[in-house]
Amino acid sequence: MEFDVFTLLPEVFPPYLESSILQRAHQRGLIDVRIHNIRDWASDRHHVTDDVPYGGGGGMVMKPEPVFAAVESVLGAGPEACCPLILLTPQGRVFNQTIAYELSRQPRLALLCGRYEGIDERIREHLVTDEVSIGDYVLTGGELPALILIDAVSRLLPGVLGDPDGAFDDSHASGLLEYPHYTRPPEFRGWGVPEILLSGNHAQIDRWRREQSLARTQKRRPDLLEKAPLNEKDKQYLEKLN
Ligand code: ADE
Repeated sequence: MEFDVFTLLPEVFPPYLESSILQRAHQRGLIDVRIHNIRDWASDRHHVTDDVPYGGGGGMVMKPEPVFAAVESVLGAGPEACCPLILLTPQGRVFNQTIAYELSRQPRLALLCGRYEGIDERIREHLVTDEVSIGDYVLTGGELPALILIDAVSRLLPGVLGDPDGAFDDSHASGLLEYPHYTRPPEFRGWGVPEILLSGNHAQIDRWRREQSLARTQKRRPDLLEKAPLNEKDKQYLEKLN
């Protein structure tokens, strides 16, 4: 999958992208993340990319010309024809695992990171095709949200996680929170591991894990249970908990 990222802070991307799973995915040719510095398309001598807002008020606004020039030179003049152009902004639809799956089906995605107090509305109206927020809080820019989106989407691509079922049991993949995990040693500082996990009985382990997921979700995120696909056994278990 290909990503084109448009940003005024290109230096923040490589340290994360060149680590661990995403680096391996790149080496295996599964993802290619190209970072484009919007400032390179600012045509004036000082490479200015922001200006004061019309109508007054505080803060600076990202100018349209360098952003349009950057995007059109990399993606071509009609961004819809090439791939979605997603603006990272607290005003976008709130990112979740369903959106991560949806985006992972695209062969190419372009991400535009907002900075300053905002971006000229004409960028939003005439260039951007989608807007995504990573939650109801405000960051200083869209760079961390872009990395979060790239990470969440990339790990869903076949071959990126070592284990082919790696993303299957994830919290949120099934609409529920994930069950608890344990590894060796069987006893640590006097704390044991649930007996069932040492039993070798896989049917019972699967059932235990499902029940743990259900109980955890009910306790921590009861809102998720309203939408999660539950079978009769799940429902009976949840009723027993109440
Ligand atoms: N830029 C600033 N805050 C953001 C958020 N919560 N999500 C996406 N982009 C942002």
